[in-house]
Formats: sequence, structure tokens, C-alpha cells
Amino acid sequence: MPQITILPENKVVDAAEGTVLLRALLGAGAAIQHKCGGNAKCGSCHFYLQEGKKSVNRISPTENAMLDTIVGVGSKSRLACQVVVGSENLVVELLTFASGR
Ligand code: FES
Repeated sequence: MPQITILPENKVVDAAEGTVLLRALLGAGAAIQHKCGGNAKCGSCHFYLQEGKKSVNRISPTENAMLDTIVGVGSKSRLACQVVVGSENLVVELLTFASGR
């Protein structure tokens, strides 16, 4: 089962393949916002995927459009509500500042 390392706390949790990352993070007690309930409409679940990019689903046009509206987006940016855990371990960096709209 893939493991998710959550930064900056450096907490490690298991997540079944096929799990939506936001659900896994909330289940782990991570401090991540989700103002639109996971519908790619608020950007508040923005985070940086530091490792494991190739094992998760690709960015959809909907996710990409939302990311385009967020300040501080980089090449590792994703929305946790749109990422599906793949077969490999992930390293997820949560933002310590408010993001989204
Ligand atoms: S929870 Fe709103 S974009 Fe992910």
C-alpha cells in the first residue's frame, strides 16, 4: 500500500491506491482546507506534490483552470481533491499560508 509523507509535519500515513488524496489527508488529520467540498472550485486544497508525480492521475483541464487562478502556483502544484493516489509513495507539502480564492 502506498505511503504518503505529509510535510512540513513529516507525518507518514498509508493510503490505498485509488483513494482521493484529499480524503486520505483529512483522514490523517492533516490541516488542509477544502472549502468547495472537493469540486475543484475553490483552490483551497492547493499543495505541492514533491514526489510521486508520475504515479498519480494527470491534471485535468478543470484542475488546470483552477490552478491558473491561484497565487503561488508552481510546477509541483496540484489540488488535493483532484489527485488520485497511484501505486507509488507520495511526498505532499501542505502550504502554511492560505491559498485559493
Ligand atoms: S476542495 Fe475546493 S478545489 Fe479542492
